[in-house]
Amino acid sequence: MCGIVGYIGTQAASDILLAGLQKLEYRGYDSAGIATVLEGEIHCVRAKGKLHNLQEKLEGIENPAQLGIGHTRWATHGKPEEYNAHPHMDTAHRLAVVQNGIIENYRELREGLIARGHTFRSETDTEVIPHLIAELLEKLKAEPSSMPALAQHSPLLEAVRQAVNHLEGAFAIAVISADFPDELIVARQQAPLSIGFGQGEFFCASDTPALVPHTRAVLTLENGELARLTPLGVEVYSFGGDRLRKTPRTLNWNPVMVEKQGFKHFMLKEIYEQPGVVRACLEAYLDTSWSPESATSPIKLNLAPELYSDLKQVQIVACGTSWHASLVGKYLIEQLAGIPTMVQYASEFRYAPSPLTPNTLTIGVTQSGETADTLAALEMEKQRRAGQSPRFEARLLGITNRPESSLGHMVPQVIDTHAGIEIGVAATKTFVAQLMAFYALALDLAYHQQTLSATRLEQILLGLRQLPAQIELILESQERYIEELAHDFAETQDFIFLGRGINFPIALEGALKLKEISYIHAEGYPAGEMKHGPIALLDAKVPVVAIATPGLVYEKVLSNAQEAKARDARLIGVTPLEASESAEIFDDLLPVPVVEELLSPILAVIPLQLLAYHIAARRGLDVDQPRNLAKSVTVE
Ligand code: F6R
Repeated sequence: MCGIVGYIGTQAASDILLAGLQKLEYRGYDSAGIATVLEGEIHCVRAKGKLHNLQEKLEGIENPAQLGIGHTRWATHGKPEEYNAHPHMDTAHRLAVVQNGIIENYRELREGLIARGHTFRSETDTEVIPHLIAELLEKLKAEPSSMPALAQHSPLLEAVRQAVNHLEGAFAIAVISADFPDELIVARQQAPLSIGFGQGEFFCASDTPALVPHTRAVLTLENGELARLTPLGVEVYSFGGDRLRKTPRTLNWNPVMVEKQGFKHFMLKEIYEQPGVVRACLEAYLDTSWSPESATSPIKLNLAPELYSDLKQVQIVACGTSWHASLVGKYLIEQLAGIPTMVQYASEFRYAPSPLTPNTLTIGVTQSGETADTLAALEMEKQRRAGQSPRFEARLLGITNRPESSLGHMVPQVIDTHAGIEIGVAATKTFVAQLMAFYALALDLAYHQQTLSATRLEQILLGLRQLPAQIELILESQERYIEELAHDFAETQDFIFLGRGINFPIALEGALKLKEISYIHAEGYPAGEMKHGPIALLDAKVPVVAIATPGLVYEKVLSNAQEAKARDARLIGVTPLEASESAEIFDDLLPVPVVEELLSPILAVIPLQLLAYHIAARRGLDVDQPRNLAKSVTVE
């Protein structure tokens, strides 16, 4: 989604801003711009489309400005056109602002500002901000004797502080002014913003990849905080105007995480990182000293004891791929720990929550930790629990790949999924890591609920430990074949994915991966549901991918696949080679090792990721940054 960068220091700001925007490209955007302050003027350059369009416009312009802000915009209010791209300025072009998020009360603010003589040039909600700040600055200047103390220290800071108190919605902003060439003001309200500390230079960004090439000392602003960055340092304040004492933390970051390392796309690199991610999860979650004789849980998640006692229900909120991982989680928690579990889209749940019962554990699942709907659903749950028993308040858990994110700040407990930063917009390794977190949680709950024998626990743990090598085997043995197979589908218009039981969510995930990066229409269905409607879509032009792994529903899936074959569909089976009956039914095989059904989703999803990747790459599409999509969806 939109990205913010800012710089104040001694180097040429525009180069640093552009490099920062490049690091945020993976988040998804459709226009970009930068504004700098030089010789008492604001210089603002914006362009529709990819960053190279902006770069072309900046080429040959000598700009030694040492203060500036930049933005990649993912359109919400107003088309992706240059005039809607950020930065936006006030009527007199003395102030520039970039914003991530949505200003919900922008209409009334805009009407008021227009009535008072302000001229608007875009269709965005953001444009109200520079006009509002400019107006508040004028008011402060007009009454210097009654200036509050903060305004005497910095009129720009005070004007921004007053402005953010008029804004409703979720936003992060960065502001510069031609009249205050030594100040960069930033503010955060429910949209991420961090400040990077250098030597005599300071940075801000909505996401850490833009900061780490310069510094590892980072301060993440909390909601309701604003900061003033000058070449001399950083001051943090509350929206109420109180000075806050804050210290930066040191980021644990390895620069190779954001390099392609010889892979054509980040997505392919991240697919190949999955065995390592599963190993990292096993290392983090499994107690290696555990044996069936131990009187402790084999799982180490360090969750509060209140979370387990008298637990009657689990409710999970998530979006997109994280929602699919949650469906697998539901299966595991219900089948292993015997606890009824609901999975809801966060965007639906927040406006129609299920009635609250005290023995419910609510889990928010989000790889980015910044998805607006998931955060809002959890915030609502937090409010609903407030003031009730401490045990009830503790029953809020996050599963995320970014424990330092807004989610991490919001919930009392987090399971870190250890996937490392994911650059490809389509989630792959973070999905598999979320599945691992759910295996660990379900086993831990099962241990506490005493629903599994020690021998059964040991059996599942053994199976989990085999997974990294089994994923490696799939990658080694199949990638070439799937690349070839993808040629056949470069012109295909529709796909159906079928799965049942624990692999139904994998059918959904296979379909989502394909549609989001290849733009081919794809539907995931529980295999048994096909005959209740979707079967009408089938003919020789609609390939059907069926996940048929041995277990409770194996024969059933094969029968459902036969029904598709009888309608001339080309049948692709994600199935073990050892299963001879499968070999006869399917036209193409994407083999997976034989494992117990419970563990099969982690293997079944790998060929589906490769299939989606190779079809999209074959079609020559922008696999890592598919059109219209954003890596973290920070608006509702
Ligand atoms: C699909 C994808 C999205 C995200 C969804 C939620 O590949 O990445 O569907 O899963 O936007 O994102 P998070 O997990 O960050 O909450």
